[in-house]
Amino acid sequence: MKFLAPLALAGAVLACSDDHLHARDEHDHSHAKREYPTAKLTPPSRPLTWSSFNVIHTTDSHGWLLGHQKTSFPEPNYSGDFGDFASFVTHMKQIALEKDVDLLLVDSGDLHDGTGLSDGYPPGGVDAHESNKFFMQLPYDVLAIGNHELYIYNASRVARLYKNFVPHFPGRYLSSNVNITIDGVSRPVGSRYTKFKTRKGRQITSLGVLFDFTGNDVNTTVQPVADMVKESWFAEAIKEEPDLFLLVGHMPVSEDNWPVVFNAVRAVHPTTPIMIFGGHSHIRDCNQPDGRSMALESGRYMETVGWMSADLPPPKTGFELKSSPESTKNITFTRRYLDPNRVTYEYHTGQGNYSFDTPWGRSITKGLEQLAVQFDLSFLFGTAPHDFTISQAPYPSNNSVLSLVADVLPYSLTVNNSRIGNPNIMITNSGSLRFDLYAGPFDKNDQLTVSPFDDSFLYLTVPFSAANQVLPALNNAGADERRDLEATLWARGYVESRYREWMQEMARRDLERNGPVLRAAGNLTLGYVTADACPGVGDDTPHAPLAFYDIPDFIGSAAPNVSDDTVIDLVFVDFIESQLIGILNSVQSDKVYTMADVLPYTDVLATEILGIYAQAKWN
Ligand SMILES: *[C@@H]1O[C@H](CO)[C@@H](O)[C@H](O)[C@H]1NC(C)=O
Ligand SMILES: *[C@@H]1O[C@H](CO)[C@@H](O)[C@H](O)[C@H]1NC(C)=O
Ligand SMILES: *[C@@H]1O[C@H](CO)[C@@H](O)[C@H](O)[C@H]1NC(C)=O
Ligand SMILES: *[C@@H]1O[C@H](CO)[C@@H](O)[C@H](O)[C@H]1NC(C)=O
Ligand SMILES: *[C@@H]1O[C@H](CO)[C@@H](O)[C@H](O)[C@H]1NC(C)=O
Ligand SMILES: *[C@@H]1O[C@H](CO)[C@@H](O)[C@H](O)[C@H]1NC(C)=O
Ligand SMILES: *[C@@H]1O[C@H](CO)[C@@H](O)[C@H](O)[C@H]1NC(C)=O
Ligand SMILES: *[C@@H]1O[C@H](CO)[C@@H](O)[C@H](O)[C@H]1NC(C)=O
Ligand SMILES: *[C@@H]1O[C@H](CO)[C@@H](O)[C@H](O)[C@H]1NC(C)=O
Ligand SMILES: *[C@@H]1O[C@H](CO)[C@@H](O)[C@H](O)[C@H]1NC(C)=O
Ligand SMILES: [Zn+2]
Ligand SMILES: [Zn+2]
Repeated sequence: MKFLAPLALAGAVLACSDDHLHARDEHDHSHAKREYPTAKLTPPSRPLTWSSFNVIHTTDSHGWLLGHQKTSFPEPNYSGDFGDFASFVTHMKQIALEKDVDLLLVDSGDLHDGTGLSDGYPPGGVDAHESNKFFMQLPYDVLAIGNHELYIYNASRVARLYKNFVPHFPGRYLSSNVNITIDGVSRPVGSRYTKFKTRKGRQITSLGVLFDFTGNDVNTTVQPVADMVKESWFAEAIKEEPDLFLLVGHMPVSEDNWPVVFNAVRAVHPTTPIMIFGGHSHIRDCNQPDGRSMALESGRYMETVGWMSADLPPPKTGFELKSSPESTKNITFTRRYLDPNRVTYEYHTGQGNYSFDTPWGRSITKGLEQLAVQFDLSFLFGTAPHDFTISQAPYPSNNSVLSLVADVLPYSLTVNNSRIGNPNIMITNSGSLRFDLYAGPFDKNDQLTVSPFDDSFLYLTVPFSAANQVLPALNNAGADERRDLEATLWARGYVESRYREWMQEMARRDLERNGPVLRAAGNLTLGYVTADACPGVGDDTPHAPLAFYDIPDFIGSAAPNVSDDTVIDLVFVDFIESQLIGILNSVQSDKVYTMADVLPYTDVLATEILGIYAQAKWN
């Protein structure tokens, strides 16, 4: 599965210079940005715990810098935009000064592939080139590279990141195990590690680690984490004892390789405080590897801003006793998952609606809004009659976006297609849907958030009797095959399965505890209900969990009403080609199908199907 490549937008117009940031309103629809939430938002449950050392964490923002703008549940809870976040950071820094404590800002990567602001650039543009300019305005202390930074090497992506973004955060953009090859020379994209002193004089050593990702483009290298910790530079970097190891990285804090890094540091420094800030699996998660460490992961898509505080001893002076009780007793950590909206931000900074905004925050908001206009993101395809969700409605059902796509495929792929006369079955994988489709205007930005993969469609001509067995066979693939598929997808950076497990788990827990009736009758609003391995309640605002329904790996259009021997078009998304051919050869034995039998079906890409349908049916 590919993410939007500039290839799909080939063209030679040079755009994206600042002087193109003029407001255009040819497509000025009712879809105005909800700068101030119209829904009544519940304030957080309790103030944050400030300690001597505090960190604000973002991860997997994927271009969601204008916040979540839909009015359906639970979107308004995440309506804060990056300008609001900037104002929040300004006020929090002020509070840190008043309290005379340390406050750092860190990010764990995946800056693009997710919204029109990063991916909706005009022909000739560069992915995330404009949105990153806003990201760069935030005073991040440490940033780590994500796998989404590595899908496309050339001038448009990693190389551009290397040239423009990295130098903006001198020494603080970390890629401990990720190299880029420039002019034939392999070198770290950012820095492998950094050492710095905080305002309060604490000595910090930081790494920026990427999970064992294998879907990276040529001319980039990802070194397995287990090999990285054996490098001599690594030993050198961690040798000297700092006041804190701040390990940032694009790697889930559970079920991944953080213990490898943690143990390597602990082998040298048995009691030095360690903070880990992870990412990638898009969930809220936390654990404590030992009594003097904590590992936090702060969700996705600017639906979560993470907070961690630790009661660290004062900076070392060099004259401490080697084993004072202070240096071995458990450290008190706290963590919190904030819903990013103005109500949350105002609550925690003690500001009101009229005092909260800073001129700098407002300028970021305005700049992002102008970028949305420049990219024509509110170009309207049609108006969605109701919400279509990935897992909040059963499949098949009217409210399932997967059912919608099963209906959309036979329409959108046959427009202007000479094969329209042939009966067909069309199959895609459910993972090609990345976000829910909410009621109301369905615009260019929504198309990019719901279906961001620019996969194409292929077909084989197959007797109906065989074609009709392929979808169920794909979904009933044996446990081994499914595990292989999962492993392949995971290595390539596909995380939706882990995210869905998390959603399923919170719905299951709620059902167990409250039963279906209480849940519906409760006074809580919908959202994430996190149960992690850290002490106390992590969610800043209590919620009831969203409904959850399991979904199949593959979905298909309705079978045509034809005889068994009618030869039909078996249309499928290119990404599943080899798997589909394998299945097809297992459900029939009349012919051995090979890749040579496969033909392109249409020029229409997976990114375009919903827009084509909406233009025809939702107006
Ligand atoms: C970068 O790669 C894309 C997709 O592979 C290609 O369309 C584009 O022309 C390349 N750009 C440059 C400057 O090489
Ligand atoms: C979440 O959004 C819903 C729907 O608009 C709203 O009623 C609720 O108050 C929000 N909750 C929070 C915690 O902001
Ligand atoms: C990879 O790097 C080599 C040497 O620097 C260069 O010749 C080649 O074009 C690069 N490949 C891509 C896809 O950019
Ligand atoms: C990364 O770059 C460094 C510095 O050029 C080099 O020593 C190292 O071998 C490279 N690592 C990989 C995995 O390519
Ligand atoms: C310190 O923390 C560890 C790990 O979280 C825990 O097992 C241990 O009981 C704690 N010790 C004290 C004295 O609280
Ligand atoms: C907050 O301020 C904005 C701008 O001044 C205003 O439009 C909005 O109505 C205010 N909202 C509330 C809840 O007071
Ligand atoms: C689903 O939509 C169809 C067509 O609009 C309608 O006839 C049917 O009643 C709907 N089903 C449910 C359960 O709402
Ligand atoms: C189909 O062809 C018409 C006429 O050439 C064109 O206006 C329309 O955009 C095409 N639709 C698609 C989906 O390619
Ligand atoms: C929900 O109801 C409970 C019990 O009536 C009450 O204690 C709690 O404050 C309510 N919560 C909110 C957010 O209104
Ligand atoms: C399927 O086609 C047959 C023969 O043309 C017809 O008799 C039957 O009613 C059709 N069934 C449906 C469900 O359309
Ligand atoms: Zn991500
Ligand atoms: Zn990722």
